[in-house]
Amino acid sequence: MPIYRLVYYSRNHVALDVLASELADILAKSRENNIRDEITGALMFNAGCFAQVLEGPLERVEAAFERIQQDERHGEVSLLSLEPIAGRSFPNWAMGFVGASAADVERYASFGAASGFDLSRFDGDELHQLLLELAIEEERAAA
Ligand SMILES: Cc1cc2nc3c(=O)[nH]c(=O)nc-3n(C[C@H](O)[C@H](O)[C@H](O)COP(=O)(O)O)c2cc1C
Repeated sequence: MPIYRLVYYSRNHVALDVLASELADILAKSRENNIRDEITGALMFNAGCFAQVLEGPLERVEAAFERIQQDERHGEVSLLSLEPIAGRSFPNWAMGFVGASAADVERYASFGAASGFDLSRFDGDELHQLLLELAIEEERAAA
C-alpha cells in the first residue's frame, strides 16, 4: 500500500496555564487513533506554533488531517506538503513529541532563529528534516 507524508504547521490557541495537560491529551488521543489508522509521525511545539509530520495510507492521513483542522486548540493550519514516500521516517512512533528539551532550543539557533523561532518560515521538506533530526536525537538519548 503506498505511503504518503503530510507536513503542516499551525498556531497554538491553548492558554499557557493548561498547555501541558492539553498537550498530554492531544498526544494520548493521537497515539490511540494513529495506531488504529497505521499512521506514524512526530509533533513539535515551539514558540506558539505546532509542526507535525503524518505518514500513512493517503485516505487515513487525509481523514486525520480533516479532524486536526477542526480542532480549536490551534488555528491557521497550513498544509506545507503531501506526497508519496518510499518509506516512513518515524516507523516506531505513533506520534512522537519532539523539540521540548533545552538542548533542542539551542539547536534551533543552527536553523537561523536566535529568538522567536518561527515555524512559518520553513517549507515542508525543511520541517520534515528538522523533526527527523530531533527524533533521532531523542531516540539516541533514550537508548
Ligand atoms: C496539534 C494537534 C495535533 C494532533 N495530531 C493528531 C494526530 O496525529 N492524530 C489524530 O488522530 N488526532 C490528532 N489531533 C487530535 C484531533 O484534532 C482530534 O481531536 C482527534 O482526532 C479526535 O479524535 P476522535 O474523533 O477519535 O475523538 C491533533 C490535534 C492537535 C491540536
